[in-house]
Amino acid sequence: MTSDRDNLPLTHALKLRRSVLTVPAINRRALDKVAALDCDAVIFDLEDSVAPEKKAEARANLLDFLEKTDLGHRERIIRVNASGSAFFRDDMDAVLACMPEAVLLPKVEEPEAVQSVAELIDKSGAAEGLRVWAMIETPRGILNAAAIASCGRTAAARLDAFVVGLNDLRKATGVPAAPGRSALVPWLMQVVLAARAYGLDVIDSVSNDFKDLEAFAAECNQGRAMGFDGKMLIHPAQVDGANTAFGPSTGDIAHARLVVAAFARPDSAGLNVINADGRMIERLHLEEAEHLLAKLQNIQDRKVHAT
Ligand code: COA
Ligand code: MG
Repeated sequence: MTSDRDNLPLTHALKLRRSVLTVPAINRRALDKVAALDCDAVIFDLEDSVAPEKKAEARANLLDFLEKTDLGHRERIIRVNASGSAFFRDDMDAVLACMPEAVLLPKVEEPEAVQSVAELIDKSGAAEGLRVWAMIETPRGILNAAAIASCGRTAAARLDAFVVGLNDLRKATGVPAAPGRSALVPWLMQVVLAARAYGLDVIDSVSNDFKDLEAFAAECNQGRAMGFDGKMLIHPAQVDGANTAFGPSTGDIAHARLVVAAFARPDSAGLNVINADGRMIERLHLEEAEHLLAKLQNIQDRKVHAT
């Protein structure tokens, strides 16, 4: 059975989401910084980083900021308050007025939470392009990750990516913050697997300690090793580390070029499996290599446009 997602253009798969910086919509100084940062995406937060009495001011800030600011290649995502909260309707009105690339829903625990927001967007007659991202950050969210991700089988649900939120998950489960996150790895991998099963991107949780860039780099590398596409960031100092860890490494690039060259040799024609310097490579590795090189091209094109 094929899904609507199977028919999405290749550009979707080539989207860069290495560095997903969150910025409190209430903070004008921080908002004014993002257009100069080398992040792939920006989450404008109306939820936990904005005090209840400041929500209206934050929405007004955001509307004004997005109207005036061209963020170039950076994807724009607005994180709204939970659908059961008093702020949700006004937050969604702000989203529909701003038309970002996506709306990020906090504490998603059931597929219906995604579907009902997708329906609300449909009813508003908003542009096709508005996608839904879901935060997976509660015990039930982790347990139901596969059911939630299965919304991604139909484009109608608009679901595009998961973002893991470990601050809430640690609070709810009692698992303390610790270097290496070893106790959390099974849950993180469950979210990655669920996302991949239904063609979603998946973004690793924030690291709170933005001064310790060595620990941050180690956590990014761990996230990359687990299969995440990128990391949610809280501070500009974290952007370069995430871009490096989640971008193709020098070794990855050299290997991808070797695979492409090996399959391009005349004696490889008609072969599905070949010997490349003592290692077996298959056509599936060629697809992976071409994908990686296309992403690299994407990163390089972006650099050219930025200069
Ligand atoms: N995006 C853009 N700019 C940011 C930023 C962010 N997320 N975080 C900090 N900056 C800016 C600051 O405005 C500051 O610039 P300024 O000196 O011109 O004001 C500069 O970077 C250096 O910031 P620094 O002094 O190191 O930190 P801070 O005390 O201003 O802010 C935090 C620290 C943690 C409060 C801030 O980084 C933040 O709010 N992060 C996002 C938190 C969030 O969204 N949480 C919810 C999801 S987990
Ligand atoms: Mg949260």
